[in-house]
Amino acid sequence: MFPKKEKFGGKAAYILALAGSAIGLGNIWRFPYMVGEHGGAAFIIIYIICSFLISLPIFLSEAVIGKVSGHGSYEAMKRLAPNSAWRGLGMMAVISSFIILSFYCVVGGWSVDYFVRSIAGTMSVTSRESASALFGSVAGSVCEPLTAHLFFLGISAVIIVLGVKKGIEVFSKISIPLLFVMMVIVTVYSISLPGAAEGVSYLVRPDFSKIDASVVASALGQSFFSMSLGVGMVVTYTSYSKDSGIVSAGAWTTVFDTLFAVIAGFAVMPAVFAGGLEPEAGPSLVFEALPYVFGQMAIDMPVFSRIATIIFFFSILLAALSSSISLFETCVNHAMEHNKFSRRKATLLVLVLTWVLGVLCSLSFGPLKDVKIFGENIFGFCDELTSNYLMTLGALAFAIFVGWRMDWQKVTGSVGRFFHFMIKWIVPPAILTIFLSSILS
Ligand code: PFF
Repeated sequence: MFPKKEKFGGKAAYILALAGSAIGLGNIWRFPYMVGEHGGAAFIIIYIICSFLISLPIFLSEAVIGKVSGHGSYEAMKRLAPNSAWRGLGMMAVISSFIILSFYCVVGGWSVDYFVRSIAGTMSVTSRESASALFGSVAGSVCEPLTAHLFFLGISAVIIVLGVKKGIEVFSKISIPLLFVMMVIVTVYSISLPGAAEGVSYLVRPDFSKIDASVVASALGQSFFSMSLGVGMVVTYTSYSKDSGIVSAGAWTTVFDTLFAVIAGFAVMPAVFAGGLEPEAGPSLVFEALPYVFGQMAIDMPVFSRIATIIFFFSILLAALSSSISLFETCVNHAMEHNKFSRRKATLLVLVLTWVLGVLCSLSFGPLKDVKIFGENIFGFCDELTSNYLMTLGALAFAIFVGWRMDWQKVTGSVGRFFHFMIKWIVPPAILTIFLSSILS
């Protein structure tokens, strides 16, 4: 009934594509400001615990669904639980990935803009005020962000049209090793700045007095976002994998993703402290603080600073692309499986829909900034809805489905027994407790 699916070339390609999805804006843009808002090293420790004890088992739940069914989340649930409400989970996952893709490409557009400026030498940030003014015009005007957004979305669409092997696989194989190398270079530069030591100690000295239920919930939410969970992406990519080693694939993805987030933290925080800035700046941290700090350094070391700026914003751009294509593919795969569209037609459909919602998200920093949904602008609403609720709900539901409705051990043998126990007995109550206590606190 379904045309034969394209597959990844091998296990390495599957793992690199998963790592590409996981390593993204969440690591370079979101993780450092979450660390800054939630007290540094203690947050990192909680984050790592959440990633290995909760996120990894959820990753495996999604992978099992993709492996056993050979389909994306909606068709998978239709097959694994025929005529039941579980298909609603599959649909919710596809909708979540579409919403995330829409606002994600807006930030992707900002990274295009900053990268182009860093190459053209038009960043010219000489004071904190000019850094804010720059971010204001990159995010808050109309033509500039919309052009960059369309460009970013266009590149993602081209990679998707090329297909699983020639598009996603090739891109991931090039971008992931490059990303690690580039981020290490920026980290070395950042740590060597005068005054950076305070930033390093902020990242290694935990202050557990700052930890409460809402911080744990934020760490868990950040971990789900970073590992791309709860939206059926892992289901989709695993349905393209020929091999069965999902446990090692999950372990590698978690290690790569966590390592990269920590490296990015060391690239950003020491620079923030070196520039005498506050780590709690929130979402603008990377787009305002870093250009300011690198701009200050340019006075003494123009060449180094210029190169570091270019490499840093190129890393953000590459990381954003490797993740946006995974969200894009999740939606395209659904349109191909469910609506029987060709890859080209499905890509065009997703491109148009994502562009429309993305334009609204982008304009919510400018002309539409007064349009509020539950007190948030459109971008903030899409971000909160997915990161705080839909992903958590999706992750919880995938774990419950696999833990309680599937015969898991057949798929992964003895190692699976440990994870099966976690998925069945530990993960759902842990997510529920953390989630509820953060809402009630
Ligand atoms: N993991 C990506 C990041 O850290 O930026 C974001 C993401 C990608 C979330 C793919 C969900 C997803 F399916």
